[in-house]
Amino acid sequence: MEHRSVAIDGPAGAGKSTLARAMAQQLNFRYVDTGAIYRTVALGLYRTGQDVSKVLEQPQCLEEMDVHMDYDAEGLQHMYLNGEDVTTAIREHYISAITSQVAAHPNVRAFLLEVQRKQANLHDVVMDGRDIGTVVLPHADVKVYLTASPEERARRRYLELEQKGDTTPMEQILQDIIKRDEQDKNRPIAPLRQAEDAVVLDTTTLNQKESLDALVTLVRERLSL
Ligand code: DC
Repeated sequence: MEHRSVAIDGPAGAGKSTLARAMAQQLNFRYVDTGAIYRTVALGLYRTGQDVSKVLEQPQCLEEMDVHMDYDAEGLQHMYLNGEDVTTAIREHYISAITSQVAAHPNVRAFLLEVQRKQANLHDVVMDGRDIGTVVLPHADVKVYLTASPEERARRRYLELEQKGDTTPMEQILQDIIKRDEQDKNRPIAPLRQAEDAVVLDTTTLNQKESLDALVTLVRERLSL
């Protein structure tokens, strides 16, 4: 059976994961957070205790790592690294910076391509990331490019981290976001860019409910749901 797929791409902090998760729930699709998969690989490399760029030069470093995902009864995606549930650990601020570097490596992208496609072959999915509409699921039924200004994205991330007790200053978060945007857009492999047939949704001035409504309306229309 052909499964339906919604690809959501865009820069860090545009609200992709929150919106994609909520939309998947409404549509009864599986939500696949591909950033979490990259984060898990980054954590695995970080835990070797060696310089990540050096470890990546060793061709066997990825095969030695057991990365897999699973869904709990509430439909939440859990990430496992060598059998350990690292769903929370991969959200640490320092992992974000390493992940951007790790995700730019062609071996890592090739290693994770099938993991992601497999999900779309087996389930109706809402999948979010950076290259879902362009590389992973070029034939997705609906493609959305979700964005917001860097300042607004930094503000949202700040509030999110603050809730977890992380006191990283706003200015540092903004600088990190700008740096990550640059890295993600300018890398030679699978750079962050809008698919030609993607619908752009800028959420700078929209709250979460307005963004979700816009997204769900679009997808329902396209998929005749
Ligand atoms: O969405 P996120 O912040 O969890 O993503 C973490 C990093 O992984 C970010 O630097 C971009 C990268 N990434 C990617 O290159 N391709 C994806 N499909 C998803 C994330």
